[in-house]
Amino acid sequence: MSKTATLEINGQKHDFPLITGTENEVAIDIKTLRGVTGGVTTIDPGYKNTGSCESAITFLNGEEGILRYRGYAIEDLAEKASFLEVAYLLIFGELPTRVELDKFHADIKEESVVDDDIKKILDAFPKAAHPMGVLSSLTSALTAFNPSSVNVDSEEDMYRAIVKIMGKFPVLVAWTMRKQKGLPLDYGDDSLGYVENVLKMMFKKPNQEYVENPILVNALDKLLILHADHEQNCSTSTVRIVGSSHAGLFASLSAGISALWGPLHGGANQAVLEMLEAIKEDGGDTKKFMAKAKDKEDPFRLMGFGHRVYKNFDPRAKIIKVAADEVLGDLGIEDPVLDIAKGLATEALSDEYFVKRKLYPNVDFYSGIIYRAMGIPVEMFTVMFALGRLPGWIAQWKEMRTRKEPIGRPRQVYTGENHREFKTVDDR
Ligand code: CMC
Repeated sequence: MSKTATLEINGQKHDFPLITGTENEVAIDIKTLRGVTGGVTTIDPGYKNTGSCESAITFLNGEEGILRYRGYAIEDLAEKASFLEVAYLLIFGELPTRVELDKFHADIKEESVVDDDIKKILDAFPKAAHPMGVLSSLTSALTAFNPSSVNVDSEEDMYRAIVKIMGKFPVLVAWTMRKQKGLPLDYGDDSLGYVENVLKMMFKKPNQEYVENPILVNALDKLLILHADHEQNCSTSTVRIVGSSHAGLFASLSAGISALWGPLHGGANQAVLEMLEAIKEDGGDTKKFMAKAKDKEDPFRLMGFGHRVYKNFDPRAKIIKVAADEVLGDLGIEDPVLDIAKGLATEALSDEYFVKRKLYPNVDFYSGIIYRAMGIPVEMFTVMFALGRLPGWIAQWKEMRTRKEPIGRPRQVYTGENHREFKTVDDR
């Protein structure tokens, strides 16, 4: 294969190196484009064809439906690993030994107390505030209570910052839900596993002994693993670009949470459940909503369908579909919304519009059904996504900072007015 790509502009030929990733993905390295062409740039709204970085964290092949973290298949990790092992793998590059895992968990627990003054900030939010807005604000507020800058050249500093956020974030997640439900705030129980503790912090009632449900622990562990990273998506790119200005880790993560909130990204899990509920309320006619999704005059989209990268089945959706069946079966829940979801999926998979555009159910199509079965309020679904995505964001931020990547600063093609004479207000 050729090692360069040649671009001809105004009769001049320019060669650019091709770089090949470890999975044989090829990219044209255009770092010198503007310099050698005297200012020509590229344009790619939505970055559909633009690689923003080289990364050794997650491999995704959308055509074949492959997702791997640090080389390990998502199917293996979801079945055989714990969320904390996966977090360690993503952040540090290798699966931990038992000793490393125990130390990681112990250090996280050591850092899992959030300054009590954060409660005052939480107090100031109205109960009806969306939990994603609250979570983003509280994450950013952590900066005020902890050193905001990390010496990225110090492994110890980096490690401390990482265990700090891994410890405090689940507390903030639980508090956003407890605030909404009017429950007293709690710091959890550090004798428990990471995910067990999350559930206890979320659900423990002040007047009852908390009884753990291993089915829910297992299901949440799996969901968090499936959401843990997804290479350069909207929120991850946000974390990297905010961090590239050397803004602190907490501020970068807070920006990532805001990016995740949107219904085209992480907010889709909430939107899916609201859509399924609306279909149920409307009498359950899935065909009617399929027709709306296909009508170009109608802004309605089938939420939980389609993906920027997967043009084949989302491998995470396959695993979650099975998990949803298991959790509902184990808990003895019959959810009519699951039947509507299955009906929609069956219809879409054989519908010409969806088949032609390669629109398959994505990870968020089924995750909300499991969250609902767990008793998690709909508005908290995207917060749960953020909890899962945290190690991915950290890993990507760490990679970007330790590789000393330059500040993210895209170009544009200006299409506005040319130079105009200024007229004072009375002359206009
Ligand atoms: N329902 C109906 N039509 C759709 C849908 C959908 N969910 N998704 C895409 N299309 C159509 C779209 O109208 C377009 O049709 P045409 O070629 O005739 O103009 C075509 O498919 C391509 O769509 P696109 O918007 O150009 O694709 P994209 O890569 O820019 O968008 C997406 C990807 C995920 C934003 C989009 O599929 C979507 O809005 N899906 C619903 C929201 C959703 O479920 N998001 C969660 C994604 S998974 C979680 C995560 O990682 O964030």
